[in-house]
Amino acid sequence: RVEPAISLRAVVMVGGRSESMHPGSARQRSDVVNAPIGVFDSGVGGLTVLRELRRVLPQESFVYLGDTARLPYGTKSPESIRRYAQQAAGLLLQHGVKCLVVACNTASALALDALTEEFAPVPVLGVLEPGAAAACQATRSGRIAVIATESTIRGDAYRLAISRRRPDAQVDSRACALLVALAEEGWTEGPVVEAIIGRYLGDLRADDGTEQRVDTVLLGCTHFPVLAPAIAGVVGPGVRIVDSAVTTAAVLSATLDEQALRASGHAGQTLRLLATDGAGRFARVGGTFLGQPLRESDVEIVDLKGNAAAG
Ligand code: DGL
Repeated sequence: RVEPAISLRAVVMVGGRSESMHPGSARQRSDVVNAPIGVFDSGVGGLTVLRELRRVLPQESFVYLGDTARLPYGTKSPESIRRYAQQAAGLLLQHGVKCLVVACNTASALALDALTEEFAPVPVLGVLEPGAAAACQATRSGRIAVIATESTIRGDAYRLAISRRRPDAQVDSRACALLVALAEEGWTEGPVVEAIIGRYLGDLRADDGTEQRVDTVLLGCTHFPVLAPAIAGVVGPGVRIVDSAVTTAAVLSATLDEQALRASGHAGQTLRLLATDGAGRFARVGGTFLGQPLRESDVEIVDLKGNAAAG
C-alpha cells in the first residue's frame, strides 16, 4: 500500500509556518483524504483552473482563495509576489487543505519553490509546468508565443520550462497587461477587444501565404481563457490556443493517486470561495470564469494579515 506523504498527521499552521501535529492529536487518514484541495489566485481568474479541476475530480472538495485586495500580482516585484503567495497559502493551510494548487501563473512563476519548501510535506502544484507541457504537446513547428503578465514574462520561467522539454523551441514571450483588465471587466468580444488583442498579437496572423511566426499561443495567465475566442479570431485559424487548465488537472489527479490522497467519495463535493475584498464583484465577475452563476453570499471575505510570517 502506498503511504500518503502527508501521513496521518495533520498539518497545522503556527504563525503562518507548517508544523506537524504530535501523534497524540493525529488526524485520521479518512479526514486527510477527504480534506479539501486548496486553490489560490490573485483574484477571480483562477476560477478557470478550478472549473477544470472540479470537472476532472468531481469527488473532491475545494477551498478557493482569490487575493482580490492585492490584485494584480502581475505588475508587482518578485519579493511582493512571494510574500503575498506565502500568506495566501498559509491561510488555506489553516483551512486544513491536503494539497495546494497555485492557479496564478505569476505566483507559479515566482513563488512555487518558496511555497513547496515552506509548506512541505503538503504537495504544492503550479500551473506553469503543466502549461509548458500543453504548449509542447500542441506545437508542430516548435514556434510558440507565450502571453502572460509583465512579472511572469520578466522572470522568463515559461521560456525555460518549454526549452527544458523541447530544446529547439523558439519562444516569443509577450506581456499583455491590458488583457487582464478586459477580462476583469467582462469584455470578451467586440471591436475594442479585437483592437487591443490586435495591438499585442496582430503580427502573429499569417493569412497572406507567408510562413506563420508561431503555430501555438500559450495562455500563460489565468484571465486569458475567457478571451480565447477573440484571441483565436485575431491570430487566425492556423494557430492553436492552449492553456494550462487541462494539464494541471491531470497533474493534480496523478499527484492524488501517487500520494494516496484521493477522496473516498462518501462525503460529496463541497466548494468554499474566499476572497480578500469585494464579495459582490467577485461573484459578478467570477461567475463568468467559473462557468456558473455566483451570489455575493457565496463568497466569504477573509483577512490575510494574520498570515504575515513571511514578512
Ligand atoms: N492571476 C494572474 C496570472 O495568472 C493574473 C492577474 C494578476 O496580475 O494578478 O498571472
